[in-house]
Amino acid sequence: MDAGPGSGRHGDLSGTATLAGSGGVPVGAGPVNVTVWERHARARIAAGDLLRPPGPPRFSWTRTGTGDPGAALLGDVTGKRVVELGCGTGDNLAYVVDQGGARGVGVDESPSQIRRARARWPGFDLRCAGAARFLLTDSEPIHVCYSVFGAVGLMPAVPLVTLIRRRLTVPGLLAFSVRAPGRVRATPTLRGTRGRWYLHSPQAWTRLLCNAGFSDVQTRDADTAETPTTLIVTART
Ligand SMILES: C[S@@+](CC[C@H](N)C(=O)[O-])C[C@H]1O[C@@H](n2cnc3c(N)ncnc32)[C@H](O)[C@@H]1O
Repeated sequence: MDAGPGSGRHGDLSGTATLAGSGGVPVGAGPVNVTVWERHARARIAAGDLLRPPGPPRFSWTRTGTGDPGAALLGDVTGKRVVELGCGTGDNLAYVVDQGGARGVGVDESPSQIRRARARWPGFDLRCAGAARFLLTDSEPIHVCYSVFGAVGLMPAVPLVTLIRRRLTVPGLLAFSVRAPGRVRATPTLRGTRGRWYLHSPQAWTRLLCNAGFSDVQTRDADTAETPTTLIVTART
């Protein structure tokens, strides 16, 4: 499952196939998104990122810090199994593990993002997999699932939150930050390359999460002085 960068398995990144039992959920981020993030990570590696130590511990849901509730939004995670979908460099996950005492699992579909994360956080549980594939093949209980501008928001929401709901314990928590709709363009650019973000209003997130079996859905705005703003959502099982 874990295709390393430069392994020549770029075909594995197409992400458009579906897995049996997924209800038609694409197992990957889709060809555009995964290519964008892989290219981004390779550029960072070429710029020497693997040799750079991580910065000071931090957990951030936002880009600017405005209205950012930090890791407190996850509650007490001591001893809990916490999964981040789309962990990137793993800095947020490291905070949850090192400062919060969680058993953390970081999942990212981009092999080079995972390579960056492993260089920063050796010994961490970091998996190179699409979010849906991970949820369909992992079997241990998940107490908390979160995503910071990660898989939630970068793939179709309904099938993904349905899978997450299926895998979360009761009680369990899903928390994520995504781009807010409205002033944002449908396809914001990343370093000049287009990625596809799936945008929903707070009302639409609430509706689709309740339909998937979540309760106590709460939404809040952050990065409010910026365009686009950020939406932070929590939902409980
Ligand atoms: C904007 S970055 C955020 C990274 C990290 N959460 C952070 O805040 O620094 C989005 C990440 O999500 C990953 N990603 C996108 N879609 C994914 C999917 N379906 N499954 C797993 N990872 C995904 C990308 O490879 C990328 O590393």
